[in-house]
Amino acid sequence: MAGMTLRPTNLFIEVDQKIAEVDPRVFGGFLEHMGRAIYEGVYDPTSRLADDAGCRTDVLEALRKLKMTAMRYPGGNFVSGYNWRDGVGPKGERPTRFDRAWFSKETNMFGTDEFLALSERMGWTPMMAVNLGNGSPTEAAALVSYCNSSQGSEMGDWRASNGHPAPYGISLWCLGNEMDGIWQIGHLNAKKYVEKAKEATRLMREVDPDIELVVCGSSDPMLPTYPAWDRSVLSGLGDEMNYLSVHRYARNFRRDTPQFLAFGLAVDKQIEELNRICLEVQHQSETGHRSFLSFDEWNVWYRHLSPFGWGQRAPHLLEETYNVEDALVVAGFLNSFIRHADVVKIANLSQAVNVVAPIRTRGDDILIQSIYYAFEMFSSRSEGEALKVSTDGPRYQTRKLGMATFADTSAILGDGVIHLFIVNRSVDESMALEIELQGATILNVLSADCLTGPSPKAKNTFARPNLVRSTSFDGFSVSSGSADATLPPLSLVAVSLSIVKAP
Ligand code: AHR
Repeated sequence: MAGMTLRPTNLFIEVDQKIAEVDPRVFGGFLEHMGRAIYEGVYDPTSRLADDAGCRTDVLEALRKLKMTAMRYPGGNFVSGYNWRDGVGPKGERPTRFDRAWFSKETNMFGTDEFLALSERMGWTPMMAVNLGNGSPTEAAALVSYCNSSQGSEMGDWRASNGHPAPYGISLWCLGNEMDGIWQIGHLNAKKYVEKAKEATRLMREVDPDIELVVCGSSDPMLPTYPAWDRSVLSGLGDEMNYLSVHRYARNFRRDTPQFLAFGLAVDKQIEELNRICLEVQHQSETGHRSFLSFDEWNVWYRHLSPFGWGQRAPHLLEETYNVEDALVVAGFLNSFIRHADVVKIANLSQAVNVVAPIRTRGDDILIQSIYYAFEMFSSRSEGEALKVSTDGPRYQTRKLGMATFADTSAILGDGVIHLFIVNRSVDESMALEIELQGATILNVLSADCLTGPSPKAKNTFARPNLVRSTSFDGFSVSSGSADATLPPLSLVAVSLSIVKAP
């Protein structure tokens, strides 16, 4: 019922109750050679908006504002059939190939050097995936060498002749993609994957001993091999792995908005289950080595599922149009990552442009989707240590995820500032919020933004591009060191509060 207000919610935060530093890489993204993510996405030399490198200036500008950190590339399923050598060297000599992952045409006009040049311009930390599908450990190591070896080596010289004399120094590498999935080119069982990944690890670290490695975890907790796969690969490789890859896509097939909005609880559960495995393996290890989680694919994805590109170049694949409830679920993922800052060290919104993405292009037009604003509200307030937030307020029963509080929250303590992120999961009731700190007092509001919309399904389109967006929120008032506000139904509010610590 519009106009109704929930019983008040109290947020209580002790500034000494720190979880961990929030790893900046948690605000990462993902660019796959798929659909129109690269071609007609970041790279479109035929566009009147292209720069000298053939990149879309409007897309780059929008991405820049998103402040994505680690950028995963080149896949995804694509990487399992990709020969990275096809994508380097003079463009006129690069072959066009049939991409078996997405049944599309890959022209190879954009490849490793173009991606790394773009990363440098954008300030992204490249997160490179090697092909452990139909690719070999030797070829994986050759790619590490192409990126990281000095001139004087075969690969270093080749890179130099392609225009980049200095090594790129890429430190983050994924050992394949979703190798547990039967859809994956070169899918393996856990034992065989461990053997292949072990060999790749040996050869890749022979080239560069300092690289950090991400091992494929389960692609989805619904798979029958979850979490046995994760336990097997970590037991087999744990001492050498820095991160276990985690993927999750939220779906709302049943059009059950209250349940969907509580999806962060499912994310919490998945993180906690996989972290238990990391800790078990650490406990059993002689070295005491601990792996952390790399949540390197996450988003809402369920309306456009077809993987068929019909042999076309840059086909329209997985082009989801995002609405208000999707944006709040995206916020729920980010809240969960911050609440688990001691465990989740990398996370990549899947993806960045056109394919399940916050940004869409159409010809020379660009559309900023609802989830863009949710991500931006977090990534512009991301520095500091995650704090525990105790939430005392009304709750509701979900169909499958148990009881959920209407308020879904996380907090980050920066230098003289607390950033708070609150989702009001109620579709039709406002939320009266009281924020109290222990160990500090709130001085004033530095900034606050709100994302909401007229209904859960409201979305931006090229015809109505600004229906759902974040706007500045002036609903907070501060008195006697505490703050309160009334949040609209179905909203995400992010607030930065200036604080002074108690002596
Ligand atoms: O992001 C789209 C696809 O989803 C990725 O290629 C794959 O890793 C996942 O299944």
